[in-house]
Amino acid sequence: MGIMNIMIWCEALMLLFGALIVMGKAEIYIVTVEGEPVISYQGDLEGFEATAVDSDSDQKIDVTSETVRSYSRHLEKRHDMLLGMLFDHGTYTKLYSYRHLINGFAVHISHQQAETLRRTPGVKSVEKDWKVSKLTTHTPQFLGLPTGVWPTGGGFDRAGEDIVIGFVDSGIYPHHPSFSTHNTEPYGPVPKYRGKCEVDHVNKRSFCNGKIIGAQHFAAAAIAAGVFNPSIDFASPLDGDGHGSHTAAIAAGNNGIPVRMHGSAFGKASGMAPRARIAVYKAIYRLFGGFVADVVAAIDQAVHDGVDILNLSVGANSPPTATKTTFLNPFDATLLAAVKAGVFVVQAAGNGGPFPKTLVSYSPWITTVAAAVDDRRYKNHLFLGNGKILPGLGLSPATHGNRSLILVAANDVLLDSSLKKYSASDCQRPEVFNKNLVEGNILVCGYTFNFVVGTASIKMVAKTAKSLGAAGFILAVENISPGTKFDPVPTGIPGILITDVTKSMELIDYYNMSTSRDWTGRVENFNGVAKIGDGLLPILHRSAPQVAIFSSRGPNVKDYSYEDADILKPDILAPGSLIWSAWSPNGTDEANYVGEGFAMICGTSMAAPHIAGIAALVKQKHPHWSPAAIKSALMTTSSTLDRAERPLQAQQYSGSETMTLVTATPFDYGSGHVNPRAALDPGLVFDAGYEDYLGFLCTIPGIDVHEIRNYTNSPCNYTLGHPSNLNTPSIAIARLVGTQTVTRTVTNVGEEEETYVITARMGPEVAIETDPPAMTLRQGRSRKFSVSLTVRSITGSYSFGEVLMKGSRGHKVRIPVVAMGYYH
Ligand SMILES: *[C@@H]1O[C@H](CO)[C@@H](O)[C@H](O)[C@H]1NC(C)=O
Ligand SMILES: *[C@@H]1O[C@H](CO)[C@@H](O)[C@H](O)[C@H]1NC(C)=O
Ligand SMILES: *[C@@H]1O[C@H](CO)[C@@H](O)[C@H](O)[C@H]1NC(C)=O
Ligand SMILES: *[C@@H]1O[C@H](CO)[C@@H](O)[C@H](O)[C@H]1NC(C)=O
Ligand SMILES: *[C@@H]1O[C@H](CO)[C@@H](O)[C@H](O)[C@H]1NC(C)=O
Ligand SMILES: *[C@@H]1O[C@H](CO)[C@@H](O)[C@H](O)[C@H]1NC(C)=O
Repeated sequence: MGIMNIMIWCEALMLLFGALIVMGKAEIYIVTVEGEPVISYQGDLEGFEATAVDSDSDQKIDVTSETVRSYSRHLEKRHDMLLGMLFDHGTYTKLYSYRHLINGFAVHISHQQAETLRRTPGVKSVEKDWKVSKLTTHTPQFLGLPTGVWPTGGGFDRAGEDIVIGFVDSGIYPHHPSFSTHNTEPYGPVPKYRGKCEVDHVNKRSFCNGKIIGAQHFAAAAIAAGVFNPSIDFASPLDGDGHGSHTAAIAAGNNGIPVRMHGSAFGKASGMAPRARIAVYKAIYRLFGGFVADVVAAIDQAVHDGVDILNLSVGANSPPTATKTTFLNPFDATLLAAVKAGVFVVQAAGNGGPFPKTLVSYSPWITTVAAAVDDRRYKNHLFLGNGKILPGLGLSPATHGNRSLILVAANDVLLDSSLKKYSASDCQRPEVFNKNLVEGNILVCGYTFNFVVGTASIKMVAKTAKSLGAAGFILAVENISPGTKFDPVPTGIPGILITDVTKSMELIDYYNMSTSRDWTGRVENFNGVAKIGDGLLPILHRSAPQVAIFSSRGPNVKDYSYEDADILKPDILAPGSLIWSAWSPNGTDEANYVGEGFAMICGTSMAAPHIAGIAALVKQKHPHWSPAAIKSALMTTSSTLDRAERPLQAQQYSGSETMTLVTATPFDYGSGHVNPRAALDPGLVFDAGYEDYLGFLCTIPGIDVHEIRNYTNSPCNYTLGHPSNLNTPSIAIARLVGTQTVTRTVTNVGEEEETYVITARMGPEVAIETDPPAMTLRQGRSRKFSVSLTVRSITGSYSFGEVLMKGSRGHKVRIPVVAMGYYH
């Protein structure tokens, strides 16, 4: 499997821009220093009075208090003093002071200066910035929201009301109907939110409108690195990519927005929580992705501003290497602080599937989302004059009148002057063709590698065909490697992409046989005919959802040696393939959607905002739930069956690189596919807070307690005995030797007392037992239970199972279990 192959499964994967070369000697470093950040500041440090921060209950800080504000200014002053003391003026540029979630700064300095900083007392960590990459008309219905969930929240016109979702992404196109407030009930103020709104310097209008309540951009690191181009990246929250608008609309776009493109209607789009507010923190750019320094600044600001939910568009390309532990780096530590502040953090699993250990989201305090293919697929057919019917993809209307039309191959209809000069078979330039030969016929073009790398687009083929007066076009895949995944692209004129190489050959053979040529090879008569079917109608599949091929897979890793962690990831599965949503007409990222208002793309990036939006609905119903409780509700109620009630399947490659389906495991889907209706009323939750996560870190074998202290500002005074005792709604034991017993604590969040019967099952390699067999919990009460796992046979592979708690009032609480047996 070549690397290129991996990148072309889904066009969204072209959003990977890992390989940027940063020029110059100076580089960006993220530095943390001694002293509490605002989030854990308890007052009385160096003359500062105590504040209302209560570190036991993970609560939002009152950042408006004068004490906190002056403490925050004090931290910034100390950063400046430290740099001023060490380095000459003009030899460094401080890009950001981080004060809320971590105490530190981002600075543009030389390697030697970084070494100096490392040796300076009071400096805790110095890490070179690493790059991160960006990793729905139909999905609300598919997930049962309009009938199942929205009514309980007051209908779509109330779903998500007053919940603020922060988006760290490529910005937003504020004029899109998915974000407009013209036809909606007026939005009131959200007093708890304090984010700023930048003003568009072109039209002098604010980016905010009541629905969008915050809009800021973070580009200092990108600018310092010399890669920021204001004419395509825009020094404002404007989305120069498309990705940010797409995902914001998936989570919180207005309800019932008609999706139209090239004159065809593709249903109506709606966000998961259409009344939720959007707070934009742009830190991702089209060509180079993002710098952690900018992303951390964006997160720091978002939490300070008071978002409820944070949707992260980014993940590292590989585990950070500077720290030994995957869970401890400036990025994950910042997210831990965000969770401490009560913010629910969602992150995409990554698009590196279907191979094991490809996740880019690791930490237990984050909700990691895998991508599913939902039930809607598009298909089309080409009807050849010899009676053969070739399958293909094409989101376009049928050729007119059900009549067969003449086929003309691109290379046979070049202008004389163009002959030999161009390889014109990819049909990107209308001016090289002889319009007289093309008009009224079907133009046959070749799908070459240029389409894969983005220098050729289907949009341009359609444009070429249209400007030549063609009745339609065919794109035949010739020698792209098998295993390549193609996505249907909407076009205004009839068109079809024949993706199967053997079918392409049938088309070419037919064309060759029916076309007569003179001795020079020039065509005398075009006699091949065909018609293109209607590709606009989706086909609804019952074998849905399935884990998408590109979705990253577990096991999770705990350090750079790629040792398995005792934490199951991903956490949950949500739709992420062929998702229709808003697009920024200013976005230049996807060649097929330049200038458009909507796009249909795929990626775990599209799955994460589904969870962000659904989390907003849960938060609306249960405003006081912790991030862990919300995550638990989503996970324990999710489903491991597809719509046909069969076990979920995962797309995989068979030996020959063609796609096949295999029975999915928790390493593909975590706990299963999200079930929003059930998540609102989970019965029990597995709760956890900052102290528990800290205890988890302190329990990881071989971890350096100073490293923990440096990243979290907290001492290791508490351990869990074994990392798998962290109270997560899943159990993972990477090295099971003999028998191991883990404990879990559940809290009854239902309205009444309920008795739960606890059962468990596991693959034959491992025995599982739970204790007690049943328990009764009063409303609001918590109780512990234990799960014992015993090795039965050692096979060198994981055993999968689950613990099921069935309540007397109908609640079903299920958690996945994974374990691998080892010898003593
Ligand atoms: C933690 O920070 C201290 C300075 O406060 C530094 O000396 C030490 O090397 C750091 N330890 C680790 C493991 O990063
Ligand atoms: C179009 O032609 C196909 C055969 O080529 C036929 O099966 C179909 O019924 C026709 N459709 C209409 C609407 O006439
Ligand atoms: C089709 O015919 C052309 C010229 O007659 C030839 O060069 C080409 O190899 C043929 N293609 C196939 C697939 O047979
Ligand atoms: C963004 O796109 C809109 C619509 O095409 C256009 O009016 C506007 O000028 C563009 N903005 C910028 C900054 O290019
Ligand atoms: C939400 O997060 C996902 C992945 O974590 C990302 O791809 C997507 O762009 C984000 N959406 C927004 C609007 O920030
Ligand atoms: C650990 O130490 C912190 C700070 O000193 C304290 O707030 C916390 O209660 C301690 N936790 C335990 C379990 O002792």
